[in-house]
Amino acid sequence: HRSADVEIVESLLREVPDFPQPGVLFRDVAGVLASGEGLAAATRAMADLASELGEFDLVAGMEARGFLFGAPLATHLGTGFIPVRKAGKLPPPVLAATYELEYGTATLELRDGTIPAGARVLVLDDILATGGTASAGADLVERAGGTVVGLAFLFEIPGLGGRDRLAGREVRSLIV
Ligand code: PRP
Repeated sequence: HRSADVEIVESLLREVPDFPQPGVLFRDVAGVLASGEGLAAATRAMADLASELGEFDLVAGMEARGFLFGAPLATHLGTGFIPVRKAGKLPPPVLAATYELEYGTATLELRDGTIPAGARVLVLDDILATGGTASAGADLVERAGGTVVGLAFLFEIPGLGGRDRLAGREVRSLIV
């Protein structure tokens, strides 16, 4: 059940201090991905978590690690997958959303025309930190004509404002 799967995922997560910058504690999901049992457990647990948000037609994931957990989840559930990419990767027509980072800005893009009007979309990523990535992803899905049923994360780092940035949305995290 979910708790057993969460234990497997938790046991495979690693913390790497001072990466990519001094003072930052990097949450590394490589061990979850590298384990057949881990990836299957993560996929089952995310499916169970996402079921709390009701039914949805599509999974959208943010580049790059949102792809790595989002596409297996979509396959598991039989839905399509929408990649939300870093700027400059997708051919036109694209919708773009720029958001603030600690230093500077970042831009995500979604291929316009890939989400049928009114499709219900689960937005998924590996980690919720400041919420900038997820907020931009959800906004893009809505601007593309989709309905965001909620956002699901493998891991949430509390205290960085992610929940506030996603205020008004349904948010679920497997591990906090
Ligand atoms: C990481 C992570 C999330 C995002 C969370 O991605 O995978 O997408 O940061 O941070 P936030 O809540 O503060 O926006 P990163 O930008 O490192 O890209 P990657 O997945 O391509 O490594």
